[in-house]
Amino acid sequence: MTLEEMRALLEESLPRKRYEHSVRVYETAMQMAEVCNADKNKVAIAALLHDCGRQIPTKESLSKALALGISVDGTEAAQPILLHAKLGVYYAIHQYGINAEDSEVLDAIRYHSTGNADMTETAKIVFLADMIEPKRDFEGVKEIRDAAFKDLDRAMFLSYKNTIDYLLEDNALIHPDAIAGYNQLAARYKTEKEEKKRK
Ligand SMILES: [Fe+2]
Ligand SMILES: [Fe+2]
Repeated sequence: MTLEEMRALLEESLPRKRYEHSVRVYETAMQMAEVCNADKNKVAIAALLHDCGRQIPTKESLSKALALGISVDGTEAAQPILLHAKLGVYYAIHQYGINAEDSEVLDAIRYHSTGNADMTETAKIVFLADMIEPKRDFEGVKEIRDAAFKDLDRAMFLSYKNTIDYLLEDNALIHPDAIAGYNQLAARYKTEKEEKKRK
């Protein structure tokens, strides 16, 4: 399927607002890919399709995931909105023709909402483009937006902190993948800070 065909199918499948958000995420991700010399083809597909799992309304996502044989962890069962990422991986393969071995594209979709440790550049770009697309407006977005075009890991770190703060405030659950992503970067920056102090 060409990118244009994917876009047309996405437009048919998603609610209008979600489709328009997807296009903004795609455009933002392409600007970021330009700056950091990423694989534009992978970024384009993953960014455009990142929310394709949203074709299933949140209230149906748990039963749909179980019916499709998708593994559901405890955090996802308690907070089924998270499942749109795994449902997205399923539809990317079965509806949009993405090769099931294409982990670059599929992992970017899988981790776009939670993040994770050891993310690829493509996955970081999609995660961040989703955070900072032009209509996103929350406290701290400017700082993340600026960092996203200079230092992907720094922007990821700021995003984890912002999201975890928000989830705590909201008494929501925090997915272990988000903690893993945060911890990996926190450990790195902690070491760097200590090394600087020693010099
Ligand atoms: Fe999403
Ligand atoms: Fe999104």
